[in-house]
Amino acid sequence: MATDADKLNARFAAGDAVRFDERLGGCVAGLRVADHTAVVALQGAQVLSFVPSGLGEALWLSPVARLGSGKAVRGGIPVCWPWFGPHPHEASKPAHGFVRARNWSVVEVAGDGDEARIVLAFEDFDERLEALWPHKAALQLEVSLGETLRVALTTRNTGVAPFLFTQALHTYLRVADITDVRVEGLEGSPYIDQLRAGRVCKSSRPIVIDGEVDRIYQDTADRVRVHDGEKGRVIEIAKTGSRSTVVWNPWIEKSARLGDMGEDGYRRMVCVETANAGRDAVTLDPGAYHTLSLDIRALVGDRG
Ligand code: BG6
Repeated sequence: MATDADKLNARFAAGDAVRFDERLGGCVAGLRVADHTAVVALQGAQVLSFVPSGLGEALWLSPVARLGSGKAVRGGIPVCWPWFGPHPHEASKPAHGFVRARNWSVVEVAGDGDEARIVLAFEDFDERLEALWPHKAALQLEVSLGETLRVALTTRNTGVAPFLFTQALHTYLRVADITDVRVEGLEGSPYIDQLRAGRVCKSSRPIVIDGEVDRIYQDTADRVRVHDGEKGRVIEIAKTGSRSTVVWNPWIEKSARLGDMGEDGYRRMVCVETANAGRDAVTLDPGAYHTLSLDIRALVGDRG
């Protein structure tokens, strides 16, 4: 019997640039251009892998990741929308919104020698969703692969009243060892420390991680660089349409509570999330749209 992947391959013939496949229990799109590769799951429009040629996997994915369980997969780039973190007034609603665990549809795939691209959509705001979020919207997520991976999330208000939303492209970066990582580009920006009851703090130094970290940096526009190890890789994230950057590592105890981080997963990842959270929430009028985007690229080590 033809699988979903077979049907999509027959419908969208983009040659080797974009091929659908069944993986981790669900349907994924494999993107390839030159020797750069990426994998995007239809569940949650979630990027699961980005391997820039010769520079190794840039994204961390839980070793127990399974698609199709009704739960979001931990790792890659989950899409948090239309609220970031817990729902602002109703604790029973799912954390980080509801699109990361739902299936998106494929709108377009394309490939030429320089770029492989897929566009996914989520537009199914039916009665079941009304109880979670009483508005109408159309979402598109475009993933473009070249030397850089570009992910762009566009929200369009298709309803008759304005709405306010928060969001994040919740990027899990893979690192060799968290104790040897330096995050640069957020020095001097005030941040909400989620581990200190939302206290606003500031530091003039790059971030080093030696315990649980959960911070929402506000009013950030600059690119962030994650220096991975003494002679290792540098991963750079540039962004548009985003005022907040979230930095998160659950460390040991919270990892144990989460249950899907794997043995020493917290040592191998750091989240640098391209977001609009807290006071950076976005208001959209009927008919208006907003695009949040990030560009990730890997560079070789900068210290020789
Ligand atoms: C981060 C939040 O963005 O996501 C953390 O700042 C949260 O507070 C983390 O724990 C993971 O969330 P979840 O819902 O994927 O376990």
